[in-house]
Amino acid sequence: MAYAAFRSIGAYIPEKILTNDDLAYMVDTSDEWITKRTGIKERRIAAKEERTSDMGVNAAQVSIERSGLDKADIDMIICATISPDYFNMPSTATIIATKLGLGQITAFDISAACTGFVYIVGIAKAFIESGMKKNILIVGSEKLSAITDYTDRGTCILFGDGAGAAIISATDKKEEAIIDVNTGSDGNYADLLMTPNGGSGSAHDSLESDKVCMQMKGNETFKVAVRTLTNDVKEILEKNNMHSDDIVHFVPHQANYRIIKAVGDALKMREDQVVLTVGKYGNTSGASIPMAINDIYESGKLKKGDMLLLDAFGGGLTWGSALLPFMGE
Ligand code: UT7
Repeated sequence: MAYAAFRSIGAYIPEKILTNDDLAYMVDTSDEWITKRTGIKERRIAAKEERTSDMGVNAAQVSIERSGLDKADIDMIICATISPDYFNMPSTATIIATKLGLGQITAFDISAACTGFVYIVGIAKAFIESGMKKNILIVGSEKLSAITDYTDRGTCILFGDGAGAAIISATDKKEEAIIDVNTGSDGNYADLLMTPNGGSGSAHDSLESDKVCMQMKGNETFKVAVRTLTNDVKEILEKNNMHSDDIVHFVPHQANYRIIKAVGDALKMREDQVVLTVGKYGNTSGASIPMAINDIYESGKLKKGDMLLLDAFGGGLTWGSALLPFMGE
């Protein structure tokens, strides 16, 4: 049987920084409020001409190079994004594949909001274990600044841009395998976090309605997030007979420091186990987890064989966790 290994990581961090003080000029807020309620100090914003696919390409290039694979070895690409180059076609994955020169490989996007990256780890694992594909490029890329309402202080302080990518490859060694991916959803909570315009469910008569922007019931989302993220991890650890102590790096979706702290405490994670990038990147939805993994990789904290626990939560609602040894060099 083929197993699926998490073989490399890469990321792209846009140059431009948007600080809390910058935001205080745009909406009625302050550095003090944002820092205290979210832990975010700054976030990155893509250049005007920089698209989600461009950021995805940059992150992918790094992950391919670090995997040691040739581009010709990659037989599928999946992109997780809620800010694609185009709503709804062509997919951002096809654009990335072409820009990278990957040839006519299978390419598609998925929509699972902030849980997107965990979902595509699961999809890649299934494709490899079934024997259908051998080397899959997975990309989480977001230009959230393009779908953020910069007059709404309840959301615009949270979100940023960026991309992360990984290669998932077939291996015959069980000890290298992604152990488990646990995903779920509940559409009963759809209205907590959504982009209400621009689709067939829009309140407007025409699909050419208002700008597509995120809307969120922040406080309700916060409470559901803490509960869901905690339960999700308990479930995957229990199912696989593992404990918090077995985890070297706990990589939660970077939505809000207070959410991460509450979940980390509930799971009895030590501070050194919990990966934190929310302060410098804000919430980058589907790109948040791979950007965080890349951060510990580039700082030298992530070593080959380290056990990672990924945990995400987002619009849909969707949630998911993944247990995997990092198999990059
Ligand atoms: O990535 C997917 C999932 N997303 C999340 O997990 C995000 C979850 N939610 C959050 O992170 C938090 O709910 C927020 C950071 C969005 C808001 O923090 P909160 O502690 O839940 O604040 P709140 O919404 O309960 O609002 C408290 C007060 C309100 O004023 P009043 O009614 O008490 O006078 C808000 O109007 O804070 C006010 N407020 C602000 N004040 C200054 C809301 N946003 C701001 C702001 N600056 N940016």
